[in-house]
Amino acid sequence: MNRREFAKRRQRLMDMMGEGTIAIVPTAPVRPRNRDVDFPYRPDSSFYYLTGFDEPEAVAVLAPGREQGEFVMFCRESDPTAEQWHGARLGLEGVCARHGADDAFPIGDIDDILPGLLEGRTRVYYAMGHFQEFDKRMLAWVAQVRSGRRGSDRGPGEFVMLDHLVHEMRLLKSKAEVGAISKAVEVSVAAHERAMRVCRPGMWEYQIEAELLHEFTRAGCRSAAYPSIVAGGTNACTLHYTSNTDRLRDHDLLLIDAGAEHDFYASDITRTFPVNGRFSRAQREVYSVVLAAQEAAIDAVAPGRTVDDVHMAAVRALVEGLIDLGALKGQVKRNIEKDKYKRFYMHRTGHWLGMDVHDVGDYRIDDQSRVLEPGMVMTVEPGLYIAPGDEKAPKRLRGIGVRIEDDVLVTKSGREVLTAAAPKSVDDVESIVGSG
Ligand code: GLY
Ligand code: MN
Ligand code: MN
Repeated sequence: MNRREFAKRRQRLMDMMGEGTIAIVPTAPVRPRNRDVDFPYRPDSSFYYLTGFDEPEAVAVLAPGREQGEFVMFCRESDPTAEQWHGARLGLEGVCARHGADDAFPIGDIDDILPGLLEGRTRVYYAMGHFQEFDKRMLAWVAQVRSGRRGSDRGPGEFVMLDHLVHEMRLLKSKAEVGAISKAVEVSVAAHERAMRVCRPGMWEYQIEAELLHEFTRAGCRSAAYPSIVAGGTNACTLHYTSNTDRLRDHDLLLIDAGAEHDFYASDITRTFPVNGRFSRAQREVYSVVLAAQEAAIDAVAPGRTVDDVHMAAVRALVEGLIDLGALKGQVKRNIEKDKYKRFYMHRTGHWLGMDVHDVGDYRIDDQSRVLEPGMVMTVEPGLYIAPGDEKAPKRLRGIGVRIEDDVLVTKSGREVLTAAAPKSVDDVESIVGSG
């Protein structure tokens, strides 16, 4: 993503904030995994969205109308010794040159400098509650300015949640953002295809996970967007199964929910297929119901339709299918009104997709389901999960879990299924599984 994209975002945000205000945006802290070992670092999505800077220990400040420049960055200084151990830092000059900061200061000096930036500003935009250690420092700086101890009592009197403005911006994707998601999607489709090709009864779930990660990494996506779910047989009925420690059995289904992250943008794909390459009759019946529901829900994605329209299109088709399968009894309408289907379908049909796999943005506005607009990207992922111990369900269906998930861009004329290349029809799935 080029520098202009980030500059445009900052400008749009500052236009909404108005003169005399200030936004303080810290990035995520490094998180320890265990003694002397940290988790791989991932910057905060909104911080990166506004700066394009991926180092830890950084705080961006946007101060509309500031004479010496509106974009100030606090970051780590160059330090040859630290860099020898832990890798290169961009440093203060690098952050100005590469990321367009007007001023850059050492992060260690923030206590001395930040209160000065707050002086004369009436309103502070800040995402309270994300980083609690930083919240405390933030309040202390504001209190310091307002106390007059600095010879000024012109401190901000108003705190506004920054999230709302930035989240609304992030919800509507630019062309460059759709490009980044599409790249993540392309890599993930290749990974799902690879997993399908190599799958054989007797393999372990984590061996399939290794195939997915191999494909992500060799294509340059250094991270999955979320822990991969590789769930054989009844494990598919556990929605967030991620231990991936069981052996794949002949005649079972395998549910894979996995997506690569590219340039900090996520993809999110689920496919379910028979471990031995042939659906049993019962598996095919359930799969076909989920597929029909997913297609109906995808058809409901269009500008002017709502998030609830998409969900209800899936629910209606699932309930019809469950009645046909003998898993529910009675009328479609009554089963929906009484939530009877929730025994088999307990999650929503989709979520926003972007820098975070469950991306930001409100789903309801004034208590109404949100209307879809071109540029939004959402997943469409109905499923059916028939618990192995559900004695009221037809015996042949027990233990079957199926989810099918695609990533869908809302366009002016309707929708584009970004993940359309991932095999999905019964025939396409059966012909690829075990073929490699
Ligand atoms: N992979 C998480 C989800 O589908 O929501
Ligand atoms: Mn998923
Ligand atoms: Mn999802």
